[in-house]
Amino acid sequence: MSLPADHPEPPTAVVVLAAGAGTRMRSKRAKVLHPLGGRSMIGHVLAAAGAVRPRHLVAVVGHGREEVGPHVRDLLPDALLAVQESQEGTGHAVRIALETLRDACGHTSGTVVVTTGDTPLLEGATLAGLVAEHAGAGRAVTLLTGVVADPFGYGRVLRDATGVVTEIVEDKDADEQQAAVREINSGIYAFDGDFLADALARVDNDNAKREYYLTDVVAIARAADLEVGAHVTTDVLQTEGANDRAQLAALAAHLNQRTLARWMREGVTVVDPTSTWVDVTVSLEPDVTLLPGVQLLGATVVAEDAVVGPDCTLKDVEVGRGARVVRTHAELAVIGSGADVGPFSYLRPGTVLGERGKIGAFVESKNARIGKGAKLPHLSYVGDAEIGEGTNIGAGTIFANYDGVDKHRTRVGRHAKTGSNNTFIAPVEIGDGAVTGGGTVVREDVPPGALAVSAGPQRTIEGWVARRRQGTLAAEAASQAAGRVPASDDPE
Ligand code: UD1
Ligand code: CA
Repeated sequence: MSLPADHPEPPTAVVVLAAGAGTRMRSKRAKVLHPLGGRSMIGHVLAAAGAVRPRHLVAVVGHGREEVGPHVRDLLPDALLAVQESQEGTGHAVRIALETLRDACGHTSGTVVVTTGDTPLLEGATLAGLVAEHAGAGRAVTLLTGVVADPFGYGRVLRDATGVVTEIVEDKDADEQQAAVREINSGIYAFDGDFLADALARVDNDNAKREYYLTDVVAIARAADLEVGAHVTTDVLQTEGANDRAQLAALAAHLNQRTLARWMREGVTVVDPTSTWVDVTVSLEPDVTLLPGVQLLGATVVAEDAVVGPDCTLKDVEVGRGARVVRTHAELAVIGSGADVGPFSYLRPGTVLGERGKIGAFVESKNARIGKGAKLPHLSYVGDAEIGEGTNIGAGTIFANYDGVDKHRTRVGRHAKTGSNNTFIAPVEIGDGAVTGGGTVVREDVPPGALAVSAGPQRTIEGWVARRRQGTLAAEAASQAAGRVPASDDPE
């Protein structure tokens, strides 16, 4: 997303207000840091702001600034942080932002966009539309407004008989007639920066909340005969803030449905959108199929024809073309094309499964490079391992990687075949084409092509149960078997 090609100037700044306490979240974490859809609330707003390519991004921080400030800088190293020590209103907050902007670039001319940090569904295209309309019309202020069913709590947009915006009146200051207006101020605006700096110097706090209202600059513009306009959005969800956890969950669900709708338009099959969650940061190719109960998180990428689900959580996972992943929990793993994973597999960071490889039921892997066509079909732990192409690891194998102090690696070569119930005591190496017997504990390297067997010869002690387990059902069964006496429950 970017500005229309004919746009004259990118905005001088986008100001993001994020100093408020957000008390209704009842959280030790600042409100704007709460996550949904793979980003913090403010992370979504910063992403939208990026779409208008402002010369500066100014975040106003106050409550929880020890966390909010570094978070903003993490996402946007060039961001300017303006500290608002006490929250004296949105007008006060923007005044501080403009001081910071002036310190950084010497002026406040050009377009200054103001938005809040708690509107996570805001899209870059909406900000771009607002900025384009504002700049084209040569106004002092362009408000982003919307018409809502229940305007309670919002500032109302008042217009004169000809429809020109005259004023914003806050909910707490509105009379009955004003309160009935359903066109609301979203809290997102484009301003002429010089006008804004001037007007904010004149805003007072003579109102119900004893705060300096940013919204008062609208009436100031009108009194100076400057033009004020409104960019009315029909998509009011984009301007909705999350003030408590219920609203956060509702917005997260909307965001998710928007994300899924976008991928379905791009050719992804989502069998059950109500139980499928996809972060905005995930990338999917056409003809991917998502079965019910799937969560795709973080930087997960799924290539075409892959089928994921039912019931998978994949975080920062790369799924190759045509792979099949069933009931799996995976993090920071790579699943090769045509590979087969699950059901009930746990892929931990550093798992790299080769093309057409297999990680089967009840297998846990970590830091393991598994070659092309190699298979770990059942019940194993594979930590710090390298497994060559075409190798088959028997059921119930433990790669014992930890001696209590250090982690060690196990290398298994190509086309090896290891028996069931093996333990590989790392560091150890099993050569190409080698074979191990069932129950082998591999403590020493196995050369290529060798057979390793460590289980001792079987010792059988006849009659042991009759002597040592007299009176048990086992002893009875054994004596019946020995005497060929028909057991009571044998068929006639
Ligand atoms: C504001 C608008 C209102 C609009 C609504 C949209 C004003 C006076 N009113 O009201 O017209 O309908 O947003 O949601 O602007 N903040 C600071 N420092 C402060 C005060 C607020 O950074 O001193 C931040 C808050 O963290 C928040 C945003 O500004 O992100 C809005 O502040 P809030 O107090 O929620 O304003 P509203 O009463 O919702
Ligand atoms: Ca608010």
